[in-house]
Amino acid sequence: MHQALRPLILGIGGTPRAGSSTERALALSLKAAAEAGADTLLISGPELMLPMYNPGKTERSPEAARLVDAFRRCHGVIVASPAYHGTLSGLVKNALDYTEDLRTDDRVYFDGLAVGLIVCAGGWQAGGQTLATLRGIAHALRGWPTPLAAMLNTSTRLFDDAGECLDLSSKFQLQAVGQQVVEFARMKIGARVEAAAPPHTPMGGPGAPSRLSLSRG
Ligand SMILES: Cc1cc2nc3c(=O)[nH]c(=O)nc-3n(C[C@H](O)[C@H](O)[C@H](O)COP(=O)(O)O)c2cc1C
Repeated sequence: MHQALRPLILGIGGTPRAGSSTERALALSLKAAAEAGADTLLISGPELMLPMYNPGKTERSPEAARLVDAFRRCHGVIVASPAYHGTLSGLVKNALDYTEDLRTDDRVYFDGLAVGLIVCAGGWQAGGQTLATLRGIAHALRGWPTPLAAMLNTSTRLFDDAGECLDLSSKFQLQAVGQQVVEFARMKIGARVEAAAPPHTPMGGPGAPSRLSLSRG
């Protein structure tokens, strides 16, 4: 596969607890992205325990600098949050606030990036509300939320100890999120490669009649 069509998909989210349902869900989506031909990078909950984002400061901790660098390099992003009190967690929101460091980049925020969204909640109502908020954030960051997101209800056991998803519908959603982010990232990269390519020169060199004009002669 052409290297340019091998996108880098960044997954961020989870909770401070390693191996949370949210982290497992994110890992499953990233696995589907990798199977669809992407390179993947997971920055999960424990690695997102960053200082509160401060727009008045330019120094960044090594962990925060790594996150910002990953935001810059990726061709697509998957965000996974638990529903905490009816919305996304403070941990995930704070991580997303670090996109502000990209505000003067050529590619600002998540401009032109596919954004896959995953929510894990103890009930459906908080799940729906949290997903709607995450979609709003993705739009505010100029990203393109994928058509299908994953909304998981963790009130029943969803993952076994090896991280396998026990619920078919949840598994399908998570895989679709990973696949759709890769699909969109490829479309965007392909469009950019095409736009940068020199214009097509008809056989016979510059000025030679095109096939179309010959056939109409
Ligand atoms: C601080 C806190 C607030 C929560 N608030 C809600 C809530 O409002 N609605 C809900 O359905 N579940 C709520 N939950 C449950 C989580 O959404 C649920 O456990 C989710 O699956 C996260 O699981 P995980 O830690 O295994 O990823 C809350 C959990 C915590 C710790």
